Amino acid sequence: MENALKITGLFKSFKSEFLRKNIEILKGISLSVKEGEIFGYLGPNGAGKTTTLKCILGLIFPDKGKIEILRLPYLSLKAKARIGFLPENPYFYDYLTASEFLRFYCQLHQIKKADIEEKTSTLLSLVGLEKSSSLQLRKFSKGMLQRIGLAQALLNEPELVLLDEPLGGLDPLGRKEIRDIIVRLKDEGKTVFLSSHILQDIEMVCDRVAIIVSGQIINQGRLYDLISQKILFTETTISGIKEEELKRYGECVSSYGGRTLVKITDEKKVEKILELAHRKKAEIHSLVPRTESLEDLFVGTVKQE
Ligand SMILES: Nc1ncnc2c1ncn2[C@@H]1O[C@H](COP(=O)(O)OP(=O)(O)O)[C@@H](O)[C@H]1O
Ligand SMILES: [Mg+2]
Repeated sequence: MENALKITGLFKSFKSEFLRKNIEILKGISLSVKEGEIFGYLGPNGAGKTTTLKCILGLIFPDKGKIEILRLPYLSLKAKARIGFLPENPYFYDYLTASEFLRFYCQLHQIKKADIEEKTSTLLSLVGLEKSSSLQLRKFSKGMLQRIGLAQALLNEPELVLLDEPLGGLDPLGRKEIRDIIVRLKDEGKTVFLSSHILQDIEMVCDRVAIIVSGQIINQGRLYDLISQKILFTETTISGIKEEELKRYGECVSSYGGRTLVKITDEKKVEKILELAHRKKAEIHSLVPRTESLEDLFVGTVKQE
């Protein structure tokens, strides 16, 4: 599989106003994103994710290093024509409606007049906003704004889509909507590079990830290789059995509305608790084996620093 994005030995420093010396923000970033995958660029706030994206887009210039977009030099217009970009916290004009906004960007992209209407409605339905086409953006929720921003980023039918914290500040439903769109982009054969500090969201959609901490990539690879698949414990929610009794199987973490959440660390007890529930005709609402999450890995790696 060919690379959609390849970064080699990227360094970037900014002049500090106070100390009159350079502060190194990116310390030799190397990563490669393969065509057709969803790649997660993961790291805490201030790690250098946006700085990396700005370098890729040619908004700022690295001190050292090489960037290739779709095997082209990254500053070439040919490369730029084939990427789409959604910045972190995009800003939109309040009084434009969704379709006015997209029509305007169609004109900027020199899309033929005859094609603009169709293009606009295709994009609106892609991001699930067809019903809000004549609604002013000031009435949009954060999630809807993020989706209209995505529609704009997809206007030129980019092969590589770069998204800076696309799930930031969204509620769980809003996050799911964006994740679904991202997966659809992959299904269409596009490559998606997204940055995030929300580990769970990356975990759910990304094929491969690179973890950046303080300007350095500390881990990179397929999620399954980075995360051990060992079951750490199992969580189950049960109603109809007293806490007293459940305690014998695991830790009763919380009780609410007659349901008790039990954390079971002894694997053999999982089957036992199921048997008990069956005998007592109790109801099991959920049973979730917890494997190591990206968050565990992330915390683990940061601690090793
Ligand atoms: N133009 C700039 N001048 C000076 N420092 C900057 C500039 N841009 C970013 N930084 C600093 O670089 C670090 C990384 O920032 P950023 O790339 O935005 O991180 P992230 O996107 O991972 O949260 C931060 O400490 C930030 O303050
Ligand atoms: Mg950022």
